[in-house]
Amino acid sequence: MKISKVVIPVAGWGTRSLPASKNIPKEMLPVFNKPVIQYVVEEALHAGLKDVVFVTSKEKRVIEDHFDYNLQLEDTLARAGKLNLLEQVQAVSEMINIISVRQKQQLGLGHAVLCAKPVCGNEPFGVILGDDMIIGQDAGIVQLIEAARKYNLPAVGVMEVPPEKVSRYGIVSGREIAPGILRIENMVEKPRPEDAPSNLAIVGRYVLTPDIFWHIENSERGHGGEIQLTDALQKLAADGGMLAVKIKGLRFDAGDWAEYLTANIYFALQDESLRDDLLEQLRPLVR
Ligand code: G1P
Repeated sequence: MKISKVVIPVAGWGTRSLPASKNIPKEMLPVFNKPVIQYVVEEALHAGLKDVVFVTSKEKRVIEDHFDYNLQLEDTLARAGKLNLLEQVQAVSEMINIISVRQKQQLGLGHAVLCAKPVCGNEPFGVILGDDMIIGQDAGIVQLIEAARKYNLPAVGVMEVPPEKVSRYGIVSGREIAPGILRIENMVEKPRPEDAPSNLAIVGRYVLTPDIFWHIENSERGHGGEIQLTDALQKLAADGGMLAVKIKGLRFDAGDWAEYLTANIYFALQDESLRDDLLEQLRPLVR
């Protein structure tokens, strides 16, 4: 299975992050010293996916700009001799090949993925949600690609969530065929806890085959009146089979304030030059 592109839907309004996201895309909010989207892109790169398809909207141009050159800034840094910063800024500009498609109406995640059809052609591709951070050595989409190649099947990444949180996610159930890998039998988008087939939640990582587009095109509107990716995935799974891969690593949903702030503190604590100072400043606040 050859996979070279990753689709990152970023057109959504980000209402959970308002008012911070009123004029800044939620994906551009910083987590420590980088915007959320950069962590997501770095995960894709780690999996060898350098062709990044942003499914975007006219309010989100700044996301593409982040991964492009800023010659004026680079010139200023070069003249000031700030070569370390210059190197960091240039590295981001050279990270990926940017491919943009517009989602002209926000009709749901299934619709967002369908917008990438003209650029994905007939190849399998990855999908990562632009505000869903997964951190860890070889974690996230890397694991999915490995399993998808081994079994020659599409795959979704899942993690266990507490029963009271199942209604926030697409939930899957299935038969374990290897440690941490299930063959999917059922899938429901945002079920009530009493209707959930398990507590395995889809965490914004997918490896899809091009037949997903046909299933999306033939999907009815689902949960919340939106064209849901999960509904099309259910059909894909029933048709030719699909895997759920238990994802290792730390996950931060950047649209959830508690998780977003925890992510900031987590990354700041990894920085030796900040750690002691940060802990000292936090200590009196948490009494
Ligand atoms: C989307 C998907 C859902 C998935 C979730 C992960 O929902 O529809 O299946 O579990 O992302 O974050 P959203 O959070 O966009 O409502």
